Amino acid sequence: MIIAVDGPAASGKGTIAKALARHYGLPHLDTGLLYRAVGMAVLRSGGDPADEGDAFQACAFDDGLLDDSVLKSEAAGRAASIVSAHPSVRAALLERQRDFARQPGGAVLDGRDIGTVIAPEAQAKLFVTATPAVRAQRRFDELVRMGLAVTYAHVLGDIQARDERDSGRGIAPLKQADDAVLLDTSDLGVAAAVAAAIVLVERTR
Ligand code: C5P
Repeated sequence: MIIAVDGPAASGKGTIAKALARHYGLPHLDTGLLYRAVGMAVLRSGGDPADEGDAFQACAFDDGLLDDSVLKSEAAGRAASIVSAHPSVRAALLERQRDFARQPGGAVLDGRDIGTVIAPEAQAKLFVTATPAVRAQRRFDELVRMGLAVTYAHVLGDIQARDERDSGRGIAPLKQADDAVLLDTSDLGVAAAVAAAIVLVERTR
């Protein structure tokens, strides 16, 4: 079984995808990490994430970078959302994601275009969302826990800019697949959101 979990930044999709993977005993891939690694690799090389050539070169990043906590930073998220709009970057990361999805036994992948582009054949597709204010609060709390000096207003602005870039880009925009079920986590804690996700997967698979 392939489970596709898509949605905007800080919607809870990563937490839900991890919990579903545990519940069903499936491997999990956070595809946002791949774009964050490309974004970070560009920044580290002194390149410009908006430059498609720089971004494409950075797709050959060292896999060790995927375990680096720097990928959790807002700078990495911002760079990721810029490099991810380049068609050559998306093409370079495509097969890796498809291979992961199609391994025997299935997988859970979370991202923006899993149900629409990476694994349109997925048996269960969730589109996880929450209001921008709730998502900004979650991300703000997470960054504060990490010891970072941020303001709520700044985090909200960042989330709104990322939503706009991810939804407005020409290639693989953030969009609910026609056959995906919507899960709004605005009023749900983690346990309730995970329980709701399992019910939806059971209903659709
Ligand atoms: O999910 P996360 O916030 O880690 O993703 C970082 C950025 O990577 C997103 O804002 C989006 O631009 C990009 N991304 C994407 N396609 C995916 C996963 C992430 O374009 N499947």
